[in-house]
Amino acid sequence: MTQKREIYKCNSCGNVVEVVHLGVGELVCCGQPMVKMDEKSQEEGLTEKHLPLAEADGQKIKVKIGAVPHPMVAEHFIEWIEIKTANECLLKFLKPGDKPETEFELSEANFQVRAYCNIHGLWKK
Ligand SMILES: [Fe+2]
Repeated sequence: MTQKREIYKCNSCGNVVEVVHLGVGELVCCGQPMVKMDEKSQEEGLTEKHLPLAEADGQKIKVKIGAVPHPMVAEHFIEWIEIKTANECLLKFLKPGDKPETEFELSEANFQVRAYCNIHGLWKK
């Protein structure tokens, strides 16, 4: 059964969805079950370019993807960066050519960051 805020992907067409309301049914796309994406925080050879780094300055949160900045070319880029708290979910979409970073204004102190690479999947910190 799905859980709120899980991310699922269709391995056939590439659709990606986030669960924002729970139901009992299985998520299906292209005639097959969608696959729950693991939230990676470590993977050999990939961590330094994918692990989100967050810096808080009051209510401003600056997020960068990777201690070594992630590539942002059409074939390989960070599609979005998300901040989630107990009550909020803020998501910024990026495109090739952008820097792999963004800023959020947040009213809560505790947060988690997730980022989605079109090739290497879902990462969290
Ligand atoms: Fe990547």
